[in-house]
Amino acid sequence: MSLPATHKALVVVEPGKVAVKEQPLPKYGDDELLVNVKAVALNPTDWKHIDNLLKPGQSIGCDFAGDVAAVGSNAQSKGFSVGDPVAGFIRGGFVVHDNGAFQEYVAALPENIWHKPASLPYEDAAPMGGIALSTAVHAIHGTLNFPYESTDPQPILIWSGATGVGMYAIKIASLAGLKVVTTASEKNWELVKSLGADAVFDYKDPQVVQKIQQWAQSSGHGPLRAALDTISEHGSTNLCVEAVGQGGRVITLLPPPKEFDSKGAEVKTILVYTTLKPKNADDHRKMAEWYKKIPSYIESGKLYKGIVPLKVFHGFDQLPEAIDYVRQGKVSAQKLVVTLK
Ligand SMILES: NC(=O)c1ccc[n+]([C@@H]2O[C@H](COP(=O)([O-])OP(=O)(O)OC[C@H]3O[C@@H](n4cnc5c(N)ncnc54)[C@H](OP(=O)(O)O)[C@@H]3O)[C@@H](O)[C@H]2O)c1
Repeated sequence: MSLPATHKALVVVEPGKVAVKEQPLPKYGDDELLVNVKAVALNPTDWKHIDNLLKPGQSIGCDFAGDVAAVGSNAQSKGFSVGDPVAGFIRGGFVVHDNGAFQEYVAALPENIWHKPASLPYEDAAPMGGIALSTAVHAIHGTLNFPYESTDPQPILIWSGATGVGMYAIKIASLAGLKVVTTASEKNWELVKSLGADAVFDYKDPQVVQKIQQWAQSSGHGPLRAALDTISEHGSTNLCVEAVGQGGRVITLLPPPKEFDSKGAEVKTILVYTTLKPKNADDHRKMAEWYKKIPSYIESGKLYKGIVPLKVFHGFDQLPEAIDYVRQGKVSAQKLVVTLK
């Protein structure tokens, strides 16, 4: 496959603003692959980086699905060839300034991507390879250390199960044999149940913690000792801590405030980007193990097209609109995807 000299890339032009530019392709290292991007998925981290972290000229975007366009000399033995359909995520523009997912070509390490089965459209693969599902796996299997196949159906609380991370976390936890209790707005209850939630309550209900604990006691699966707080804002971590009690474990996705009282629970904040770097050996190895498993999960029907509702935009010109949709907090029980081909 011959590579063009330049490609289209969405870049920051001033804090909070992006534009499409024609620029040279990112260099891929000897250990990396270059992927020709066909579809991308969006996450809140995209606008947070655009507004707060990236400087003008830096690329953006994390989640991608596409075809391998080139393989670095040291990556030849890693099981990927030019033309292979793949998916994955990077920390767009932050680590290497011209390397983001919201562009025609993106560079990534082979350990951070997986083979996309032909049955899965690129639109569905982009969010599945991306931050939301990877964060769910990093929390449940990588950090809480629940096995992929449990014979002990312990309960787990997925707080805010209609977030991007929450929807995939419900599915991943229930596939692992855990009993899932979640919270969501009532309009999303059927969806979270269809993903595998055993019980769901409204996070706005003042009695929500008591209802969760009553469910755990009456379900006969033992006391609730683990939670993934997928929102980690608006007091959600206090409620998770209350729900799991002293000695319970709570994973958060944003750090709790400084004066936070964990009330004897073990509260740990994770950052999915740690899984991308070989120097974070444990996180990196565990996530690479998942990327080897995910094709079989898709081929066996455990994960499938349409598992999470998608709102699909088309083309580079619609990327800023899609980013704004996430920035304005309009996302509810869906993943936003933009096709680039
Ligand atoms: N640390 C990490 O590595 C990491 C990784 C991924 C995400 N994150 C962060 O985690 C957060 C969630 O990301 P996401 O992409 O999963 O979210 P998202 O899909 O954008 O979240 C949308 C959902 O948030 C729920 N929500 C809104 N207000 C809420 C409240 N007060 N209490 C509980 N739920 C509420 C809504 O649920 P209903 O529709 O049911 O009301 C809505 O469906 C973001 O801050 C993101 O930056 C961090």
